[in-house]
Amino acid sequence: MKNKVFEVKDLRFRYAKSNVEAVCGISFDVYEGEIFGLLGPSGAGKSTTQKIMTKLFRDYQGEILYYGKDLKTYSNAYYEDLGVGFELPVHFSKLTGLENMKFFSQLYKQRANIETLLDQVGLLEDKDRMVGEYSKGMKMRLNFVRALLNNPKILFLDEVTNGLDPKNARIIKDLIRAFKADGGTVFLTTHLMNDVEELCDRVAFIREGEIVEIATPRALKIKHGNREVRVEYFSNGKTEEAVYDLDGIGENEAFLKLIKDKEIETIHSGETSLDDIFIKVTKAKSDA
Ligand SMILES: Nc1ncnc2c1ncn2[C@@H]1O[C@H](COP(=O)(O)OP(=O)(O)OP(=O)(O)O)[C@@H](O)[C@H]1O
Ligand SMILES: [Mg+2]
Repeated sequence: MKNKVFEVKDLRFRYAKSNVEAVCGISFDVYEGEIFGLLGPSGAGKSTTQKIMTKLFRDYQGEILYYGKDLKTYSNAYYEDLGVGFELPVHFSKLTGLENMKFFSQLYKQRANIETLLDQVGLLEDKDRMVGEYSKGMKMRLNFVRALLNNPKILFLDEVTNGLDPKNARIIKDLIRAFKADGGTVFLTTHLMNDVEELCDRVAFIREGEIVEIATPRALKIKHGNREVRVEYFSNGKTEEAVYDLDGIGENEAFLKLIKDKEIETIHSGETSLDDIFIKVTKAKSDA
């Protein structure tokens, strides 16, 4: 059994001016070496959970254990272990990319090579430009490598591929995978199901501050999936579609007759996509 990096037990949090809890008693574990995704619609409590786990918010209820020790009593050594990619990149806009990296690097004992990091996300050529002149995607990439400045053991990434073009999103995803391959643990929040499909070992769906499912992406698809076969065929000058249960398909007379008699254009066995599962399991209580 793998080590538990985090044990989160009945975590609750309410913002000072709010009369409802943003996080309403969630429990989950994060294991060493996994990429754990916290997914859910806007306002569900993903960023709030990340901020609590990274000790930005301390007045929470419930318990968070980090390698078995209560996070509340853990020393600032905790920050040496963490790399944090914030949802909205905050940099010094009057400083260059390189100066920003140097500034944040000084805060840590461990220091990765800054130019190597900038190079990995295609920012080396722009290192001497003021960050205020960076495009949004450039700021996001700088935000991501900033999280790696201290050679962290654990990465917290809040929507890190948001707003990136496919090529840059790929670069970031490859770096996340490389981080995991080196033994790192990743906690990420997203609402991009592509990222989940490509990265996450396990996911938790959060809805209105409550966790409604925790599983591997594959188990979720099996649980919520419709096992079906979708056939597109040509009939009377146009394309028609028919859907059959995958179970017992070999004895399904209607299906067998169709593929014997008709001109088939496509046949697909269908799994429910993670997008469909996301919509289903995070549907607001009021809509259920
Ligand atoms: N500073 C704040 N003060 C009061 N309420 C807040 C504050 N920040 C967030 N909230 C509320 O807490 C709830 C959870 O917000 P949170 O930012 O954690 O959502 P999220 O899941 O990260 O959403 P998104 O996908 O839009 O980033 C929301 O109802 C939100 O309005
Ligand atoms: Mg958020």
